Amino acid sequence: MGFKFRKANLNDIDELEHLIELSAKSINSLFYTESEINAALGNVWAVDKQLLIDQTYWIVENLEGIVIGCGGWSKRKLLFGKPKSLTQTESELKPGLNPARIRAFFIHPEYTRRGIGKKLLIKSEIEAQFGGYNSLELVATLSGEKLFSAQGYKKIKTFELNLGNGITNKVVLMNKTIASTF
Ligand SMILES: CC(C)(COP(=O)(O)OP(=O)(O)OC[C@H]1O[C@@H](n2cnc3c(N)ncnc32)[C@H](O)[C@@H]1OP(=O)(O)O)[C@@H](O)C(=O)NCCC(=O)NCCS
Repeated sequence: MGFKFRKANLNDIDELEHLIELSAKSINSLFYTESEINAALGNVWAVDKQLLIDQTYWIVENLEGIVIGCGGWSKRKLLFGKPKSLTQTESELKPGLNPARIRAFFIHPEYTRRGIGKKLLIKSEIEAQFGGYNSLELVATLSGEKLFSAQGYKKIKTFELNLGNGITNKVVLMNKTIASTF
């Protein structure tokens, strides 16, 4: 396919923010209004530095080195958005007891439906499983729900996420059981 998958680091933040904005404004315009997208961007659709520090976030580059996808998993409690403070022990989940999180999948609009999201998801699931987790949980956007349902995630509930100023986004809490390696 000519795509390079690698772990994201703190030097990638600008490119990741650019990709997230591009992906959200394009792909999610089928599912959310402009004001809903703008309210979510930089707020709940954002780079979580903690995942870069934990080395649980993937980046995908095309042959020219342009960032065209991102997504990962987390061993922290936060389900979406950015943490208030970094590397807090109390934010950690317990493998085998808590579900690991699947976090922040964004694909460049010119590269969607080529299986990149699915590949990122499989890589994330394998790492979480290797980390001792036996289930996964996430809050999906309406476009994300389609990817995650296709990969066996079950809907727990749909709800309106409050983004302030009277704006909400319809999102879906989902989970999946995976076999623990321990
Ligand atoms: C959700 C998203 C990451 C999916 O990435 P992607 O690389 O396009 O997904 P894939 O090509 O790997 O899709 C794998 C399968 O998931 C399902 N799927 C993914 N997107 C779909 C869509 N828009 N409509 C219907 N099915 C879809 C299909 O079954 C697809 O297989 P197929 O193309 O062979 O039919 C992408 O749409 C995106 O970036 N959305 C905007 C950002 C966002 O809201 N992210 C989710 C945060 S939770």
